[in-house]
Amino acid sequence: MGVSALLFVFFFFFLISPTPWLIHAQQPYVGKATTNCGTADNSTSVLGYTCNGPTTTCQAYLTFRSQSPYNTVSSISQLLNADPSQISQINSVIPNISSVIDTDQLVFVPVNCSCTGGGQYYQSNTSYVVQEGDTYFSIANNTFQSLSTCQALQAQNNISATDLQIENRLTVPLRCACPTKNQSDHNGVKYLLSYLVTWNQDVSSISAIFGVNYTTTLEANELSSSDTINALTTLLIPLQTPPTGSEALAPPPPPPSPPSPSSSSNNNTSSTKKTWVYIVAGVLGGGGGVLLVIGGIAFCIFIRRNKKKKQAAADPIVASESFEAIEKSGGKKVEKEESSKEFLESIAAIAQSLKVYTFEELKSATDNFSPSCWIKGSVYRGTIKGDFAAIKKMDGDVSEEINVLNKISHFNLICLSGVCYNDGNWYLVYEYAMNGPLSDWIYRNNIEKKVLSWTQRIQIALDVATGLNYIHNYTSPPFVHKDLKSSNVLLDSELRAKIANFGLARSADGEEGEFALTRHIVGTKGYMAPEYLENGFISTKLDVYAFGVLLLEILTGKEVSALYGGVNGRLSDVLSPVIHDENGKENLGDFMDPSLQESYPPELAVFVAGIVESCIKNDPYARPGMAEIVQSLSRIVTSSLNWEQSKTVSGYHSFA
Ligand SMILES: *[C@@H]1O[C@H](CO)[C@@H](O)[C@H](O)[C@H]1NC(C)=O
Ligand SMILES: *[C@@H]1O[C@H](CO)[C@@H](O)[C@H](O)[C@H]1NC(C)=O
Ligand SMILES: *[C@@H]1O[C@H](CO)[C@@H](O)[C@H](O)[C@H]1NC(C)=O
Ligand SMILES: *[C@@H]1O[C@H](CO)[C@@H](O)[C@H](O)[C@H]1NC(C)=O
Ligand SMILES: *[C@@H]1O[C@H](CO)[C@@H](O)[C@H](O)[C@H]1NC(C)=O
Ligand SMILES: *[C@@H]1O[C@H](CO)[C@@H](O)[C@H](O)[C@H]1NC(C)=O
Ligand SMILES: *[C@@H]1O[C@H](CO)[C@@H](O)[C@H](O)[C@H]1NC(C)=O
Ligand SMILES: *[C@@H]1O[C@H](CO)[C@@H](O)[C@H](O)[C@H]1NC(C)=O
Ligand SMILES: *[C@@H]1O[C@H](CO)[C@@H](O)[C@H](O)[C@H]1NC(C)=O
Repeated sequence: MGVSALLFVFFFFFLISPTPWLIHAQQPYVGKATTNCGTADNSTSVLGYTCNGPTTTCQAYLTFRSQSPYNTVSSISQLLNADPSQISQINSVIPNISSVIDTDQLVFVPVNCSCTGGGQYYQSNTSYVVQEGDTYFSIANNTFQSLSTCQALQAQNNISATDLQIENRLTVPLRCACPTKNQSDHNGVKYLLSYLVTWNQDVSSISAIFGVNYTTTLEANELSSSDTINALTTLLIPLQTPPTGSEALAPPPPPPSPPSPSSSSNNNTSSTKKTWVYIVAGVLGGGGGVLLVIGGIAFCIFIRRNKKKKQAAADPIVASESFEAIEKSGGKKVEKEESSKEFLESIAAIAQSLKVYTFEELKSATDNFSPSCWIKGSVYRGTIKGDFAAIKKMDGDVSEEINVLNKISHFNLICLSGVCYNDGNWYLVYEYAMNGPLSDWIYRNNIEKKVLSWTQRIQIALDVATGLNYIHNYTSPPFVHKDLKSSNVLLDSELRAKIANFGLARSADGEEGEFALTRHIVGTKGYMAPEYLENGFISTKLDVYAFGVLLLEILTGKEVSALYGGVNGRLSDVLSPVIHDENGKENLGDFMDPSLQESYPPELAVFVAGIVESCIKNDPYARPGMAEIVQSLSRIVTSSLNWEQSKTVSGYHSFA
C-alpha cells in the first residue's frame, strides 16, 4: 500500500464530510425520487438526511402506520429497533404492547438518530431479514412505509438488487434527522419528526396536526409554498416539544386500500442447517465453590443436543459418542413431563438468574412466533421487557440430553437468560446479537458479505480472546470451549463479539497445561488442534489453536478449508511469505483480505500474523496462553486506533 492510497482515503473522507457551506442549510424534501431505485439523485435526500447539525446524535421521532403484521407496539418496536416502553409512553392511547392497533393509525416511535460511519447521513438503524417476494423497493415502500428508500438500502447493503435472497439480513437505515443550529437558534426546534405523508395531504394540513408554524415546516424541508408533496415520502416536522400522541387522533385521510406487506415467510431451512444460536442449559451441584470464585455473577449453562450431532452437518466431525452425561441419561426413559418439571425445579433452585418463562410470555415476545420475528431455523427474535432476545425452539425432550456445566457470565460470551417448556418443546432464551454470526461478515465469497475495517477486525479478535481468557483463567474449574469458529462468534449492534455455542465445552480438569484425555473427538474440521485429533488431548490450548485459525480467517477473508494449500498443505505455509520473508510487508497484498482495500497498518498486520503463527504451533506447550494474547491484542487495538486517527487527520501515518 502506498501513500497514494492513504491520501485517497483522506480526500475521500474530506469530500464526504459535512462541508462548511452546508452547515446552515436544512434538508431537501425527497419527492418522487424514492420510486426510481436505479438512480440516487443526490440533490434530494433520497440517501438520507444530510448530517448538518451541531451534534452527531440526537433524539428523533419516526411515525409508522399500523399495518398487519406490524400492528402492535411490540411488533412495531421490533421492526424499527425501538424501545417498546418508550413507544407505549408516547402513544398512551394504545392500551398495552400486545394490543392490536387499528389499521392506519399513526404511531409515534422515538429513536436515537446518529450520523453514520462516514458522517454523511443521519439514520437510525434496524435490521430486516429478507422474505419471499421482497425487493429493495417493496421493503422500503411497503414494509417500512417509506421510512427508508430503496437507494439508501442498496447503498448500505452490498447486495445487488438481483442478488437479494430470502434470509439475507439487511441493515435498514431509517430516515431521521437532527435540528440544525439555525433551526434551534431561530425557531427553538428541539426535535425533528419524520412524518409519513399519505394521500391528499399538504404541508399546511400536516403542520396543523402538530400545531407547527407552516413556514417553519416548509423551511425544514427546503420547500416553497408552491411545491407539492407526495404520498409515501417523509416530511420533517420541526418540534419544540416531544409529540404527545394526541396528534395521531386527527382522522387520517382514507387511503386507497393499500396492499398489506408480504407476511409469507419461507422458513425452509433444509439448506441451511447451520444454526448460530445454541442450546444452553444445565445445572450442577457443587456450585458453591464457583460462586465463591465468581462472586455472585450469574452462571451460564450449556448443553447440546445429541440429535444435532447425529445430523452430522457438513462441517463438524463427529467421531464418536456424545459426552458422558448424555450417555448416562440416554438409557433412562423418564416421563417427559416429570423430568421437565424436575429440571425446571433444579434450575430454579440453583440458578436464580435463569428465568423460567411461560409460553404466553414468549408468544407475546415474538408476536406469536410471527414470521416477522423469525431469524433462522427455529430461532426467533423476541422482545422481553424492551430488550431483544434470541429465542430458540427445540422439539423433543432435551432434559435427557442435558449435560451439566457451570454457568458463566461475561460481556464476550453469549448468555442464556431463560428457559421455557411447553407442550413437549423447549425454548431457550438468549441474549440477542443484532449483527449475527461473524461468518456472515468475514469471508471473501459471501454474498451477504459486509466489510469490516481493520480496527473492527482487531477489536473482534480481542473480544474473542477476552472471552476465552475468561473461561480459561477466571472460572473454576477452567473450561475449554472446544468448538470455536466463525459461526460461533456473534456480533452485537456495536460489532462487539460474543462467543456462542458452548455445546461442546467441558471443564479442563487439572492445572492449565495438564492434559485430559478423551476418546470422543467432536469439533469442526480445520479448527481442531493436531494433538486433539491424533490423541484426544484436551486442554485450553485447543481453543488457542482454534483462535489462531479464526484470526487467520479474519485477516485473509478466506475460510479455513481454503487456507490449506494442496493435499499436504499446512496452515503455517500461508504465513511464511509474510513472516519469514524479508519482504514480508510487500507480500501482504496477496495475504490480506482484498476487501480491506489495503487500508491497514502493514507493521501491525505482520505482527498479528505472528500471533497466528504462535497459536497454531503443533506443540501445544509452545502456544501462548490466552492472557498473553489478550495483552498483545489490546496493544494492537490501541495502535490501530491511533493509526486510524492519524490516517483521517493527516492522510498519512507513520508508525513508531
Ligand atoms: C436561518 O433561518 C432563518 C429563518 O428561520 C432564515 O431566514 C435564515 O436565512 C437562516 N440562515 C441561514 C444561514 O440559513
Ligand atoms: C452527486 O452525484 C453526482 C453523480 O453521481 C456526483 O458527480 C456529484 O459529485 C454528487 N454530488 C454530491 C454533492 O455528492
Ligand atoms: C437511546 O440512547 C439512550 C442514551 O444513550 C439510551 O438510554 C436508549 O436506550 C437509546 N434508545 C434506543 C431505542 O436505542
Ligand atoms: C392488552 O389490551 C387488550 C385490550 O386492547 C386486552 O384484551 C389484553 O388482555 C391486554 N393484555 C395484557 C397483557 O394486558
Ligand atoms: C448503521 O449501520 C451502518 C451500516 O451498517 C453503519 O455504518 C453505521 O455506523 C450504523 N449506525 C449506527 C448509529 O449504528
Ligand atoms: C461490494 O462487493 C463487491 C463484490 O461483490 C466488492 O468489489 C466491493 O468492494 C464491495 N463494496 C463494499 C463497499 O463492500
Ligand atoms: C411563522 O414563522 C415565521 C418566521 O419563520 C413568521 O414570520 C410567522 O409570523 C410565523 N407564523 C405564525 C402564525 O406564527
Ligand atoms: C407502496 O406502498 C403503499 C402503501 O403500502 C402501497 O399502497 C403502494 O401500492 C406501494 N407502491 C408500489 C408501487 O407497490
Ligand atoms: C416454520 O417453521 C415452523 C416450525 O419451525 C413450522 O411450524 C411452520 O409451519 C413453518 N412455516 C412455514 C411457512 O414453513
